[in-house]
Amino acid sequence: MTSRKLGIAIVGIGGAVGTTMVAGIELIKKGLVSTDGLPLAGIADDILVDYGDIVFAGWDVFPDHLAKAAEQHEVLTLKQFAAVEEALRTIKPWPAVADSKFLSNIDGSNHLSMASHRESIDKVKSDLAEFRTTVDSVVVINLASTEKLAAEGNESFNSLADLEKALDDNSKDISPAMLYAYAAIAEGVPYGNFTPSLAADVPALIEFADKQRVPIAGKDGKTGQTFIKTVLAPALRSRSLKVEGWYSTNILGNRDGLALSNEDSLASKLKTKSSVLEDILGYDVEDHIVDIKYYRPRGDNKEAWDNIDISGFLGQPMQLKVNFLCKDSILAAPLAIEIARCLELAQQRGEAGIQEQLSVFFKLPMSKNDKPEHAFHRQEEMLLKWLTKH
Ligand SMILES: NC(=O)c1ccc[n+]([C@@H]2O[C@H](COP(=O)([O-])OP(=O)(O)OC[C@H]3O[C@@H](n4cnc5c(N)ncnc54)[C@H](O)[C@@H]3O)[C@@H](O)[C@H]2O)c1
Repeated sequence: MTSRKLGIAIVGIGGAVGTTMVAGIELIKKGLVSTDGLPLAGIADDILVDYGDIVFAGWDVFPDHLAKAAEQHEVLTLKQFAAVEEALRTIKPWPAVADSKFLSNIDGSNHLSMASHRESIDKVKSDLAEFRTTVDSVVVINLASTEKLAAEGNESFNSLADLEKALDDNSKDISPAMLYAYAAIAEGVPYGNFTPSLAADVPALIEFADKQRVPIAGKDGKTGQTFIKTVLAPALRSRSLKVEGWYSTNILGNRDGLALSNEDSLASKLKTKSSVLEDILGYDVEDHIVDIKYYRPRGDNKEAWDNIDISGFLGQPMQLKVNFLCKDSILAAPLAIEIARCLELAQQRGEAGIQEQLSVFFKLPMSKNDKPEHAFHRQEEMLLKWLTKH
């Protein structure tokens, strides 16, 4: 058992996943819930920080303390909410770095009005430095609303020198997600991106993380439909069942769904959700369709349908249907907690740059070569091997 105290600084702490992480750890500390749903519970306990030694802080564009935020998201049961309400009330988000150009339909008042990118970065760095005085180490996890798809191939993102110049020039192409990532890396704080937004995955920030010796991981948490897809697709491949088409659709009604009802944010999400299948199967599935719709009545209870058309021996066609009625934040929060514990361990071990062994947690894993591993069983093997080394 370790006794290091870990501070998780969450970008978007007032969100459904952020508040569920904080509430979940509080409920564990009080002994009111088990560690079910936390995939690393009981694994590498002697080297990962204890769940009871985790504390939280973070930024949000909404100023409400976390009790008010959690009440709005309605993820917790009333009993669970009552048990942690007081603890949640003590956490108030720091003012956020925000830019309506990258996120237009989420509009909160709790944001910085800095004159320059450099000033925003300095403020985020000082928030982190202050938080670090209260714990042994800090990790940043991005759980903010999905931003509009940034210009990925932008030349100023290709090298650290170019990015530094673009920061000095207050380039409008640099998103808040990138500013947070830059600030974390500059401050020597490990950074995990649970969202599809472009952040530490640009070459300039990968170079910066290597230079600063900071572990980074991302992106986009693999929680529901894509999780199941990366379990099923390797099995179909192993049995030589040819995938003729895969139709995936979702409805969700939380704030994440609202952000995704904006076409530009949706484009970011569809990009990370669509890339897995061909890589696993080794051939193109022309009729691979992924769709997400905002549907308010469901709140945080997402429903996902998959229709898979396959053909087998003698060319005979078959179908497989999956209907996953899941709870978005209940699946996501424990993964974000495990990512933070692993990033802390990576830093303890002196590891830096892309942490590919965390691929199992992401839809679009950051990889040191251009072929990320998507198959769930191989990703899991990679993580367990890393956890049990030494
Ligand atoms: N829930 C899942 O299963 C899942 C899976 C994969 C990825 N994600 C991603 O995780 C993120 C969080 O999901 P959620 O359901 O908690 O969404 P949410 O909308 O409830 O929470 C996002 C929070 O981020 C805040 N925010 C927006 N811009 C910000 C900024 N610039 N700085 C600080 N805070 C900012 C919002 O005010 C909001 O409180 C989303 O990007 C989502 O796509 C979620």
